[in-house]
Amino acid sequence: LKSIAVMTGGGDCPGLNAVIRAVTKTAINDHGLTVWGIQDGYLGFIENRIERLTYEQTSNILTVGGTILGSSNTSNPFQFPVATGGRTQMTDVSDCCIEHLKERNIDALVCIGGDGTMASAAKFAKKGLTVIGVPKTIDNDLAGTDVTFGFDTAVTTATEAIDKVHTTASSHQRVMIVEVMGRYAGWIALYAGAASGADVIILPEIPYKLDTVCQYVIGRSKKGKRFSIIVVSEGAKEKGGQMVVLKRVANSPDPIRLGGIGEKLAEDINRQTGLDCRAVVLGHIQRGGTPTPHDRTLATMFGHAAIELLAAGVKNRLVVWNGGGISSVPLASIAGKIKTVPRNHTLIKAAKAIGA
Ligand code: F6P
Repeated sequence: LKSIAVMTGGGDCPGLNAVIRAVTKTAINDHGLTVWGIQDGYLGFIENRIERLTYEQTSNILTVGGTILGSSNTSNPFQFPVATGGRTQMTDVSDCCIEHLKERNIDALVCIGGDGTMASAAKFAKKGLTVIGVPKTIDNDLAGTDVTFGFDTAVTTATEAIDKVHTTASSHQRVMIVEVMGRYAGWIALYAGAASGADVIILPEIPYKLDTVCQYVIGRSKKGKRFSIIVVSEGAKEKGGQMVVLKRVANSPDPIRLGGIGEKLAEDINRQTGLDCRAVVLGHIQRGGTPTPHDRTLATMFGHAAIELLAAGVKNRLVVWNGGGISSVPLASIAGKIKTVPRNHTLIKAAKAIGA
């Protein structure tokens, strides 16, 4: 092993730079490797935008949010729109990507991403490329690992925001609905909701009944409580209903953009109870900012482990955090799988008992 490339795919996430730093510095310092950075995720891979990454370029980035390499979450090398003869066709351009690595004598790829990125990484591994995956997502929904970096920062940001919503809700005697990210998994809603003492927490995993939510907030109001805080995950849906889709994105590995459930709940609860309701959508704020110490350290261990695995001749695995330590699982075993919140999760039980 002489030379490796690193890329960040999918939505950005606090801690990406910490992984890039750990990968690059471990590779250069401990193993004397040459490191290349692929720009803008799979898009730059397809377009052959691959530049040398130096030790200096990865200094002073540990605390910086985002990714110095750039990312893209609409490009899939196995299904990429190519215009030929006036028509655009979805084409497998993965062989070109592999060629781009061969041109530079790059032996292996460290792929930092979520489930979409890993699904393609597993396909590259099947084609013979040496790949190590590093799990990233604020949603914490990647299968095979107990936790992903970025999640702790997103929960911290959401919790701080919900804490602030409490005071304005109380001043105006309102029902405040805070919509958080998470796609099809309610991890951010559950943890930020519980951490901020929300009155109602709504997860995609447990479809809600509007009547039950309304009775609960009316009950609080009758008891003299001046406000109610509802934390809802963007992928939540009413029992028997559909997820609210904000937008469909053409050619995206994840073609549906969720969002709008907060506004829907505010309207529905106001109509049914007469209480004054407002929705707050936290959105991409949850993906920004400096990573928490937890995410910086997890990202550092992940990045270091990725290079140690490659140096030991291991390939086609995802670095994971399981049972309190770093290990790895086969990439193929997690491709296309997501990890949702189990209905019997301890925090659900605790929040229910306490009153959320
Ligand atoms: O997967 C991370 C995430 O932030 C989800 O929580 C959210 O549904 C999605 O990405 C938003 O993606 P985009 O950046 O395309 O708006």
